[in-house]
Amino acid sequence: MKAAGSYDAIILGAGGAGLMAAAVAGQRGRRVLVIDHADEPGKKILISGGGRCNFTNLGVAPDRYLSANPHFAKSALGRYGAQDFLALVERHGIAWHEKTLGQLFCDGSARQIVAMLLDECRAGGVTLAIGEAIRDVAHGDGGFRVTHGDRTSTAPALVIATGGPSIPKLGATGFAYDLARRFALKVVEPRPALVPLTLSGEEALFRSLSGVSAPVVARCGKAAFPEAALFTHRGLSGPAILQISSYWRHGQPIAVDFLPGRPKGWLVEAKRARPRASLKTILPLPDRLAEALTERLGVDGELGTLTDARLGGIEQQLAHWTFHPNGSEGFAKAEVTIGGIATDGLSSKTMAARHLPGLYAIGEAVDVTGWLGGYNFQWAWASGWAAGQAL
Ligand code: FDA
Repeated sequence: MKAAGSYDAIILGAGGAGLMAAAVAGQRGRRVLVIDHADEPGKKILISGGGRCNFTNLGVAPDRYLSANPHFAKSALGRYGAQDFLALVERHGIAWHEKTLGQLFCDGSARQIVAMLLDECRAGGVTLAIGEAIRDVAHGDGGFRVTHGDRTSTAPALVIATGGPSIPKLGATGFAYDLARRFALKVVEPRPALVPLTLSGEEALFRSLSGVSAPVVARCGKAAFPEAALFTHRGLSGPAILQISSYWRHGQPIAVDFLPGRPKGWLVEAKRARPRASLKTILPLPDRLAEALTERLGVDGELGTLTDARLGGIEQQLAHWTFHPNGSEGFAKAEVTIGGIATDGLSSKTMAARHLPGLYAIGEAVDVTGWLGGYNFQWAWASGWAAGQAL
């Protein structure tokens, strides 16, 4: 085994959060080592946003994050916001555009974001140990000792930045939680989030609509997302469903408004205007979807044959179509993990563990999960920046 290297901080995980923390601490003069078992850094950045990385969102606000403590993310997001990351992107000459709903993407490639973070790490003299398995982490004598690959490194500070278990084939693991528990930090039950939902039983018939999408409002409890929903061969997906999946719990129904924004009585109006038309032909939806919905509503024949009261009932059903997902496509397909290292054991200002000096946790490993649309990377940058300032 090679001799021990000594650093001011060891960061476990070379994803967005770990690289940001390393660059910031390195540029503050700290000697930083980043260890990752994957064969290259920032793998989730590389595949994100269809290869263009949706790196932040102009609408970033704490209420767009889920956590057992909804106030926890305020401090870090307040001190390092979307404009701060955008300024970094611009300093590196990376061209970008706003796609929709405040989502910012690279014009070129997500690879530019990884290259930028690595440049920043280089500017801070950060040492990278990529493709090295972490074999042991120990604490004692006021510091941490990490055995990785065929060597051991020590530092008075250790940052857990190994993310959550979503998409294991990219090297994602629940390592952060195991380590956190070993150091007496609690873990809020991790669940797949931003994930397609599956349908079974009678509702499995909707799977025949695989590939059909429509703009809807998806609701679960108090959460509502006006975006597109997509039928798949397993159930439901598309941005509206991915968003609502983060709020959904097993056993709960979700409600879909297939015709958002229609005034009350619009179907009665339609009957007056076109009494000979069928419901299927007047629904402004893709043909296959209109057909499936009218079939399930048990409506055929001309609008003129339906009473106003019946049409009012149909309006209601189309506006509150209830699905009972029997599950989700799980961590294999989840864009993020909800839950994680409990925030009550961490400082919201520095991300340091309250009871163990020198221990930090950042990024997706922590129980803070953002909406779809660049919010999760912004949390990775902001929490990484906060720790980087404190290391
Ligand atoms: P991240 O998971 O990025 O990094 C953790 C690192 O730790 C990895 O490099 C991993 O190899 C390493 N690691 C894990 N276990 C280890 C172990 N046992 N030993 C050593 N190393 C270990 N978000 C967003 O805002 N905009 C977007 O466009 C997208 N798009 C997107 C697409 C897809 C397909 C996915 C799966 C996810 C997204 N996301 C996203 C979410 C975003 O990728 C995610 O929230 C951040 O990458 C989290 O950053 P972290 O650095 O915390 O973890």
